[in-house]
Amino acid sequence: MHVLKVAIAGFGRIGRATGDLLLSRRERYRRLYCADVRLVAVCGSRAGLADAEGLEPHRLDDLELGLTGTDFIATSGAEILVEAGPSDYRTGGPGLAYLRSALSGGLDAIVISKGPLVRGGRELRGFAKGSGSMLRISGAAGAALPAIDLLEHGLLGATVVSAEGILNATTNYLLDAMATRGIGFEEALREAQSGGFAEPDPRNDTQGWDTAAKLLLLANFGLGLDLALEDLAVTGIEAVTQDQIAAWRQQGLSPKLVGRLVREERGVSAEVGIRLYGANDPLARVTGKNKAIRITTDAMGETVAIGSGTEPLATAAAALKDLEHILIARLAGRRAG
Ligand SMILES: NC(=O)c1ccc[n+]([C@@H]2O[C@H](COP(=O)([O-])OP(=O)(O)OC[C@H]3O[C@@H](n4cnc5c(N)ncnc54)[C@H](OP(=O)(O)O)[C@@H]3O)[C@@H](O)[C@H]2O)c1
Repeated sequence: MHVLKVAIAGFGRIGRATGDLLLSRRERYRRLYCADVRLVAVCGSRAGLADAEGLEPHRLDDLELGLTGTDFIATSGAEILVEAGPSDYRTGGPGLAYLRSALSGGLDAIVISKGPLVRGGRELRGFAKGSGSMLRISGAAGAALPAIDLLEHGLLGATVVSAEGILNATTNYLLDAMATRGIGFEEALREAQSGGFAEPDPRNDTQGWDTAAKLLLLANFGLGLDLALEDLAVTGIEAVTQDQIAAWRQQGLSPKLVGRLVREERGVSAEVGIRLYGANDPLARVTGKNKAIRITTDAMGETVAIGSGTEPLATAAAALKDLEHILIARLAGRRAG
């Protein structure tokens, strides 16, 4: 049995759910990959916990003050880092330092927060290439929606002509509520906030930045492009009025906030904004908190994936899908060796 040590930096709602799910799946990892996966360190901004023998679930409630930071993770003996800190598109957030340290030190990394990938994606890919580490980003790039998988695996070899996605559950819920129930943006937002799935400050979603960040990750990590957030034309949904929605409805059109990328002769255009879909279009039928992606390729036509999951479990499961890909690659390496 091969021991594999995992650390989690950023131990809030998603980090904790990922830790709990990982510990509940240890028997699966033993059975399928001959891997004794141990959670050897976790940390938030001020506190953490480490144990080279592996932390048990009941210990995760009592973190010790002062046990945090890149050195704490580096000395934990972890071979894989799961990064789930806050997303900050301007600076990259605290996750950037953890990922620089991990990838340059040869650790594999599973990234859940978008900030480090949006701000430091090229640099992090460079570190991973230099050290031969694996860098996986499913949790950050749509989570339960298997968008990056389609690009990396399902459509491998085909040339992507265009990709368009409903990538943000909150804005889809808001537009859907406005269109089907005739309520205004503010009322739909209050409803989503009291339901606990829209942030108290919703601008990252409603102004289109979360969609833009995910589109950028799909472009840069899935298609090997090198876009910056500033390259995208981004419009959100805050200015959409009830009258507009009613007029679109009369024409049989459903408004969706969409991130769209089109390969053109001179390069790639990428934008975020409202697009209108007729009733026969699969994207018109993406309701509530669902997300979707449509990818058109030269050789494999059009593929549409629609999905959603309950958070935080769905994002934790997406991150652990990445862990299984790493286990598969490591197992293949052991066999080849
Ligand atoms: N919520 C979703 O559905 C979803 C889906 C996909 C991706 N994501 C991404 O997942 C990430 C985490 O989301 P969340 O909902 O779990 O947020 P959260 O509950 O606010 O957790 C963030 C964690 O990061 C920790 N942190 C802050 N600075 C740190 C530092 N310097 N070193 C180590 N840890 C630090 C915080 O520590 P303290 O506890 O000490 O403050 C907290 O534990 C975000 O980037 C988000 O965009 C979320």
